[in-house]
Amino acid sequence: MSSELMDSFCLLRLTVTLLPLLNPCLTRLTPRVSFPMGSPGRRLTCFSSHDLSNTTTLLLSADGEKLYVGARDAVLLLDVGHKDTVLLRSKLDWSPSEKDLEECSMKGKKMADCPNFIRVLQFFNSTHMYVCGTFAFSPRCAYINSETLTMSLNTDEGRGRCPYDPYQRNTAIIVGEELYTGTVADYRGNRPVISRHLSEGSRVDLKLDDTLGWLEDPTFISSKFIPHEEKIYFFFSEVGREYNFVDKFIVSRVSQICMSDVGGQRTLQRRWTTFAKAQLLCQDGSELPYNVIQDIDLLPPAEGTSVDDILFYGIFTSQWAVNSGRSAVCSFTLTEIKSIFSGNYKVLNRDTLQWSARVQEKVANPGECGLHNASDNALRFVKENFLAEDSVRPAGRRLTLVSREHIYSHLTVQRVQAANKKLYTVLFLLTESGHLHKAVLLRQGPYIIEEVQVFKPPQPIRSLMLSIPKVQTEAYSVYFQIFFSSNFG
Ligand SMILES: *[C@@H]1O[C@H](CO)[C@@H](O)[C@H](O)[C@H]1NC(C)=O
Ligand SMILES: *[C@@H]1O[C@H](CO)[C@@H](O)[C@H](O)[C@H]1NC(C)=O
Ligand SMILES: *[C@@H]1O[C@H](CO)[C@@H](O)[C@H](O)[C@H]1NC(C)=O
Repeated sequence: MSSELMDSFCLLRLTVTLLPLLNPCLTRLTPRVSFPMGSPGRRLTCFSSHDLSNTTTLLLSADGEKLYVGARDAVLLLDVGHKDTVLLRSKLDWSPSEKDLEECSMKGKKMADCPNFIRVLQFFNSTHMYVCGTFAFSPRCAYINSETLTMSLNTDEGRGRCPYDPYQRNTAIIVGEELYTGTVADYRGNRPVISRHLSEGSRVDLKLDDTLGWLEDPTFISSKFIPHEEKIYFFFSEVGREYNFVDKFIVSRVSQICMSDVGGQRTLQRRWTTFAKAQLLCQDGSELPYNVIQDIDLLPPAEGTSVDDILFYGIFTSQWAVNSGRSAVCSFTLTEIKSIFSGNYKVLNRDTLQWSARVQEKVANPGECGLHNASDNALRFVKENFLAEDSVRPAGRRLTLVSREHIYSHLTVQRVQAANKKLYTVLFLLTESGHLHKAVLLRQGPYIIEEVQVFKPPQPIRSLMLSIPKVQTEAYSVYFQIFFSSNFG
């Protein structure tokens, strides 16, 4: 009998106590303690089912009790509110018909890639979610009831909302009942686009202009909404055309768009007027940069500090062999990102696709919200000046952490109050070899408190999510829940 590969959903509850480590002048990148798989106090609670596979999207309810999982041909609702068990509450099966599958395979696609891989899973309103899947290389989207998982009768075409090819990465976020996405928008997979969908009334769906240069073969990583700015930020890597002297130099980017955008009146009609992008540079002095972003998480400002004190923590790897097997963590402040976007922009020559420093007069501020009523002249300027001249450099002008032994693939970040009432930043990092590292950032540097083996043999974890349950159990410690999906074979 052949055992089919299946996915597991695991939940690990960890307590972070910061008491023992307030040992001065010590930084360490080898974990202080290492727990092998299944160690007491570090046991995983898992859920798996024989027909559950290719789980990629996770979404946790606001109360932290319900976990939604997007998988192959299915959406699951798991009850994660109990201490030692994860229960299946309901399941929606959503697969292409025999005919759809036949067509998919006739188009030359492997049968194994033709199912419906769920790639967008977001809360839409208080009663419904919005879900999209690759659906036999013909993406479809639907509303589903968040309690019962029943699906709307009509489905939407998913072009521009979800990739066709399940191996292509995408990002999606719903804000104000509108869907903002970064994905490729064609069957062949060579038309990347950042767009808005589900807009109603005086609002229109928007996308990037079709001309070249906006995005260069990007790999989308994440999208974040910053409420006080009414902006959405996208994180991705792409080919850095501005470095045309290096062949296929990958750069990491942050890009922004304003929620208030409704496109231009003649120029940039139904197109973003507020799109701007900048390089995110995870680099120490003149050393080679860790240039390829892998994951990013946002740390909200501490209580009583400015709303702009948001920090973005990202994992970066390098495209060069000298840094293979290594990875770095860098953090970026929102303040710095905003200042780069309000600075100067490079100009793109659309005939040669070469970037140069701007020489013409500045007739508009690219990236500024509220340009929809701007003159054609101003909008033409915006259309050609969307790459910020300067790069966003890491906070403190240094790398947060460099690991020479591990390739980290996922991270989450939290701020924790220790017994001495001081606030510390704690990172949870997953290694490609199946270990979870819990690291605290001290003034003198990062300190890896512990390592927990979460699976073996080594294999990539596909998704990771962290939450702090409302009820905290012990004084001076914070209790985290980590959910992830992995193939346990
Ligand atoms: C789905 O899961 C199987 C088994 O882990 C894997 O071989 C395959 O590549 C996955 N497909 C996609 C589209 O991720
Ligand atoms: C949420 O959206 C769905 C789909 O458009 C709609 O059927 C439902 O009535 C909405 N719920 C509320 C509370 O507005
Ligand atoms: C654009 O300007 C016109 C006239 O100045 C005004 O009536 C309209 O409300 C403006 N549109 C927006 C979206 O601000």
